Amino acid sequence: MEKVEIKPNIFWVGGVDWNVRDFHGYSTPYGTTYNSFLLVDEKIVLFDTVKKGFEDELVRRISSIVDPKKIDYIVVNHVEMDHSGALPQMMELCRPSKLICSSRGKEALLRHYHRSEWPYEVVETGSTISLGKRSIQFIETRMLHWPDSMFSYIPEEKLLISSDAFGQHWATSERFDDQVDQAALMSHAAKYFANILLLYSSLVQKLLESVRGMNLQLDMIAPDHGLIWRSDPEKILQAYDSWSQQKPIPKALVIYDTMWESTAAMARAVGEGLMLEGLSVKVMDLRHTHRSDVVTELLDAAAIVCGSSTLNNCMLPKMADALHYIRGLRPQRKIGAAFGSYGWSGEGVRMVEEALKEMKVEIVCPPVKVQYVPDKRALEECVQLGRTVGRAVKEKL
Ligand code: FEO
Repeated sequence: MEKVEIKPNIFWVGGVDWNVRDFHGYSTPYGTTYNSFLLVDEKIVLFDTVKKGFEDELVRRISSIVDPKKIDYIVVNHVEMDHSGALPQMMELCRPSKLICSSRGKEALLRHYHRSEWPYEVVETGSTISLGKRSIQFIETRMLHWPDSMFSYIPEEKLLISSDAFGQHWATSERFDDQVDQAALMSHAAKYFANILLLYSSLVQKLLESVRGMNLQLDMIAPDHGLIWRSDPEKILQAYDSWSQQKPIPKALVIYDTMWESTAAMARAVGEGLMLEGLSVKVMDLRHTHRSDVVTELLDAAAIVCGSSTLNNCMLPKMADALHYIRGLRPQRKIGAAFGSYGWSGEGVRMVEEALKEMKVEIVCPPVKVQYVPDKRALEECVQLGRTVGRAVKEKL
């Protein structure tokens, strides 16, 4: 795959990772890209690098435009190693006169690569560097999603190089949003937001407000992963606004794990009850559904109802895994309930309910617990639990 000119003399020169399937706990069944951009002006600038192992792709693409030794500045918008892993090799090869980063970026680079002799140039929000005909304005985006994160804005091109923000984990041969299926694109973008940025929703709101306050003219947003937004950059800004508000819709998730299918039968009955109340329902078996897909569905759901059998006086491990992961992402404004079958001790359901309470899910009814196998009456109780949660959702929305 060749470099791609995204604006006059600004090129995508990144790497495509067709094979990565796990991104620190987030499933990436369609791979990802590590986007890197080269701007050629009186000064030549490389924005971010790629994950270690993809440096040959990066160097080959840069070399098809300019000799990498002619690069004047390298900008590190984000230190996480999927973007800085190739930095030591690129510093050695290019020997830039400036390595531009935020103050927290410098600290993080020193602690990652231990190279105090690199020519750090620290910038902050409002800093501008002239490149000749064009310039870069920097905007720090602390904790979106690392302390070091920042955006680089090229006002003359109305181009925002946005680091991780607005990205998608999706390996493609296409580089622009208008070249791919829109529903698939937004689904990948939503999964990315849900799994990486959900816990920073209030900061996303503040950032969007301040970006709007700066009156930046935007006709292209180039993230460090996935497709570049050029057809309508406002579309992804509005999606981030909506996702970060975490406004629920009449939708409920029933997630469960089961030993001998009793909790599975209960889950289906709970789902029936929710459907009888008119909600959109997803029943998700954790044996077949990845935690990161649960979180994606949870993004706009009003309710989460969780079921687990009891194993060794605990909830089942896949439920513990899912709840632990969800808790870290701090979803807001959810209501829920717990259910499950058990053999003799039955602590699993109580543990599930406690975990939901810890993540500030509003519990709207007592749990349903069934010893061994649910009979018709027990399944009717599960239907009623679903109906109770469904009615609570409708009252709340
Ligand atoms: Fe794509 Fe936070 O790294």
